[in-house]
Amino acid sequence: MKPIQVGLLGIGTVGGGTFNVLTRNQEEIRRRAGRGIEIAMVADLDVERARAVVGEHAKVVADAREVIANPDIDIVVELIGGYGVAKALVMDAIAAGKHVVTANKALLAVHGTEIFEAARARGVMVAFEAAVAGGIPIIKALREGLTANRIEWIAGIINGTTNFILSEMRSKGLDFEVVLKEAQRLGYAEADPTFDIEGVDAAHKATIMAAIAFGVPVQFDKAHVEGITKLQAADIRYAEQLGYRIKLLGIARRQESGIELRVHPTLIPAKRLIANVEGAMNAVVVQGDAVGTTLYYGKGAGAEPTASAVIADLVDVTRLHTADPGNRVPHLAFQPEALSDMPI
Ligand code: HSE
Repeated sequence: MKPIQVGLLGIGTVGGGTFNVLTRNQEEIRRRAGRGIEIAMVADLDVERARAVVGEHAKVVADAREVIANPDIDIVVELIGGYGVAKALVMDAIAAGKHVVTANKALLAVHGTEIFEAARARGVMVAFEAAVAGGIPIIKALREGLTANRIEWIAGIINGTTNFILSEMRSKGLDFEVVLKEAQRLGYAEADPTFDIEGVDAAHKATIMAAIAFGVPVQFDKAHVEGITKLQAADIRYAEQLGYRIKLLGIARRQESGIELRVHPTLIPAKRLIANVEGAMNAVVVQGDAVGTTLYYGKGAGAEPTASAVIADLVDVTRLHTADPGNRVPHLAFQPEALSDMPI
């Protein structure tokens, strides 16, 4: 069967990671998806940069609309970010009958309801594992693994930049500005780091998790958002002396009156697992009525961790898009062609 055809909009850090991981693990991914996945087209304003990544393997264009207009493209992957151009392109892709995979948490947290409604009406999928906590499969955990549960609350370190800053301030006694520059140099921070340090990025992600966990529309404007800019080195020091760590948490909790959605610095007893999540790592704790407490930990940003989530969505969409019902079940469900020939 012809590989499913993917068009990539934007080939920066995550786009490059997606191309590299898809190429490196091509055979395993094909077996698991039941069909090959091929990046056939890439749109990026920096055509030279895009060519340097994909070489002759994909057609490179400057105009994203060429990708959307191409009838051979089955899935559009939006990695541009932001609300403006990205929203118009995602809506156009849906209108053109393409499935969409996106890592764009800001877009979904603010315009998700409109986007999901358009996708439902057009009968296409919008998948967004990469939008929350990078490589941690928290969307799939909430949507699939924990689907039997009444979720009571979710609390997570879901912004790597601020966790890196707080960790470095505590362990090395460094100043906020110095560590922020380092986080930017390491590629953790958003293009506009205000979104990281003011808690906006974490609130976008908490909003998306709340929508899935509690079945409410995405309502970023209802979130209480407070970042880490008012914290001083002394706050971190005093917290430590009292046996606490300060972490920026995104919290979504079921209350009698509705869903509470908030992001703010939180004092956590130092002996708790989540208090010991250091550096740019992410961790999410979910409390479900049946399962109890579960904890998810991993890299919340970076080229290949985020690519891992983007490709997981590509595999999901491929399985569901492909007409053969045998492909719709997860790999290793007794499909001989899904088996590797490696000896045990
Ligand atoms: N700026 C984000 C972070 C990137 O620091 O977590 C991943 O969403």
